[in-house]
Amino acid sequence: MRQPQLEPAAGTPQQVRIYEVGVRDGLQNEATVVPVEVKAEFVRRLLAAGLKTIEVTSFVSPKWVPQLADAEELIRLLGADGLGPDRPVLCPNDKGLERALALGVTSIAIFGSATETFASKNLNRTIAESLTMFEPVVNRAKDAGAWVRAYVSMCFGDPWEGDVPVGQVVHVARAMMDLGCDELSLGDTIGVATPGHVERLIDALVEGGIDLDKIAVHFHDTYGQALSNTLAAVRHGIGIVDASAGGLGGCPYAKSATGNLATEDVVWALQGMGISTGVDLTALVETSRWMAEYLGRPAPSRVVRALSAA
Ligand code: HMG
Ligand code: MG
Repeated sequence: MRQPQLEPAAGTPQQVRIYEVGVRDGLQNEATVVPVEVKAEFVRRLLAAGLKTIEVTSFVSPKWVPQLADAEELIRLLGADGLGPDRPVLCPNDKGLERALALGVTSIAIFGSATETFASKNLNRTIAESLTMFEPVVNRAKDAGAWVRAYVSMCFGDPWEGDVPVGQVVHVARAMMDLGCDELSLGDTIGVATPGHVERLIDALVEGGIDLDKIAVHFHDTYGQALSNTLAAVRHGIGIVDASAGGLGGCPYAKSATGNLATEDVVWALQGMGISTGVDLTALVETSRWMAEYLGRPAPSRVVRALSAA
């Protein structure tokens, strides 16, 4: 399979950690529930393709996200492949954490919102109430020795509220990180960010006291900007990038959210720039083609489409 020509770019990091969200963010958005055995095979294929950090599932209310109601079953089916510091799961509340810890999970993610409307739609809480819900989750997870990521959604715009001021995002991000989280992921839930905005928010967060090496970026591709925004972030010093195999994804509670940045598309770009990700592009493309065949429609990823046609 064709690979990009190697032309290293100046002033970029030597490696980037890809945080793979296809199994969680991708499959939470499918109209039908993907069988648990297919999810387990998806995780195993991603591991075989060299992805080290894979978000496996969500311990949320099954009434809210029926697509991931099989979280327990999936973790059990995966055994050691589904556990460890590099297999985070989403846990919004005590109940979710309880379910995860009972299975031996040691890595979780809480997920807040920079806007009141999305906090209400996604968590049935105000921003302040969601922080109150998260506090005991983080404390208990930390007491159990777990690693905790904090997502903040709607960092670059909100479908109901429009523009989201940078200061508002910094305020929520600080409050989430002050709970004791290890990593912050900046969610562009509806894909409206542009590169200058990305740089401005990163600078504001660093000025606000958040370490650059703790910040990850999470772009959806609704407006076709996910890759350019990600590269802007990487050139600005970000070393953790969220992406979804084949470009699967979306959020059932955010109107106009489409797929995430496709893992293949960002791996192609980074590989060409001489930035190592540890991912075997050929194996990853084959995995996304296998999943697309199962789902009955082509993968959104341009690289998967181009390499499949070649
Ligand atoms: P609520 O209705 O306010 O919760 O929802 P509640 O505490 O009143 O409980 C209601 C019922 O749910 C009760 O059951 C609870 O036991 C049950 P009942 O007594 O009615 O039978 N319940 C649970 N069951 C299992 N596991 C749990 C759990 N919690 C409650 N953890 C809640 C509040 C937070 C639970 C709900 O709003 C929820 O589950 N939201 C999750 C929504 C979600 O998963 N969205 C997608 C992920 S976020 C995303 O995609 C964005 C991201 O990718 C970044 C980006 O792109 O920006 C991360
Ligand atoms: Mg997302």
